Amino acid sequence: MWVLGIDTSCDDTGVGLVRDGQVVVNLVASQVRLHGAYGGVVPELASREHLKAIRPLTERALAEAGITAKDLDLVAATRGPGLIGALLVGYTFAKGLAWALGRPFYAIHHLEGHIAAAWPEGIAPPFLALVASGGHTHLYEVLGLGRYRLLGATRDDAAGEAFDKVARLLGLGFPGGPEIERLAQEAEEAVPFPVPLREQEGYDFSFSGLKTKALQLVEKGLPKPALAKGFQEAAILHLAEVVLRAARDTGHKVLLVAGGVAANQALQARFREAGLQVYFPPKGLSQDNGAMIALAAYRRFRQGFPPSSLSLGATAYWPLEEA
Ligand code: KG4
Ligand code: ZN
Repeated sequence: MWVLGIDTSCDDTGVGLVRDGQVVVNLVASQVRLHGAYGGVVPELASREHLKAIRPLTERALAEAGITAKDLDLVAATRGPGLIGALLVGYTFAKGLAWALGRPFYAIHHLEGHIAAAWPEGIAPPFLALVASGGHTHLYEVLGLGRYRLLGATRDDAAGEAFDKVARLLGLGFPGGPEIERLAQEAEEAVPFPVPLREQEGYDFSFSGLKTKALQLVEKGLPKPALAKGFQEAAILHLAEVVLRAARDTGHKVLLVAGGVAANQALQARFREAGLQVYFPPKGLSQDNGAMIALAAYRRFRQGFPPSSLSLGATAYWPLEEA
């Protein structure tokens, strides 16, 4: 069974092909250079770029898989949350394709896609899932596919957003996460950063204090590698402390860590030594992509979820609990 998955929620056009639950092709057309000049994603430019990329990228994905559109069994796309203009491009394209081919269409929640990318076959809920990306830092209790309970979320910046902003303070490129990770490896010592929200009783996250601290230290002229290392360590420790406390309190032994930040090797090492059964997305599947959307759709199909209505619109705001 072939599933096409499309994600155009933000600044990357993602087209993925999954065969019987295995990722065969996963193409991402990045818009990093386009938005780089503005220091952030310009929504209207993102939509226009998706429009240019979506058809050729889909044709390339089909060619690389050695199939044609007629071989597709399911078509899926991100319905939300995200930038509405950007979402509409991939979502409408996918719905049109499903309609033309007469195939079922699945409207997928972006975070369900991220979770699906980290969710190995044979691992049954309930478990915990942390989604840490440029737009989200959300901790969920996954009770089943399509059944999510939010335990905590960031009060300010998302984890990836904090990496991006601190990278900018350090004069590094975008996206900041990989740049900070690389620079931190050059440091022997880390400049200490205070770990946020140590006194809270809930499971929230906060990264704006780390960002402010980074700014103060940059102004003091401290060495950048040690600063990058200190920030990274504190951000990771903060994520780990909150998640591990939630695991202790809820009794869950299985944890999925998903989203762009899950690619961080120092983060993976820290969570691996936590005594939980922890899973990360395979390489190339933590950042936004289309294959994760196809994986989520394939799971939904297998579990007997009905296909989505083609009259359903995309949505910028959509809590995962309502997906
Ligand atoms: O999931 P994603 O591709 O897009 C969103 O849905 O937001 O996540 C992108 C974010 C960016 O903020 C980027 O800096 C961060 O993930 N990121 C990382 C790493 N690779 C990407 N953060 C820390 N370490 C990394 N290695
Ligand atoms: Zn994402």
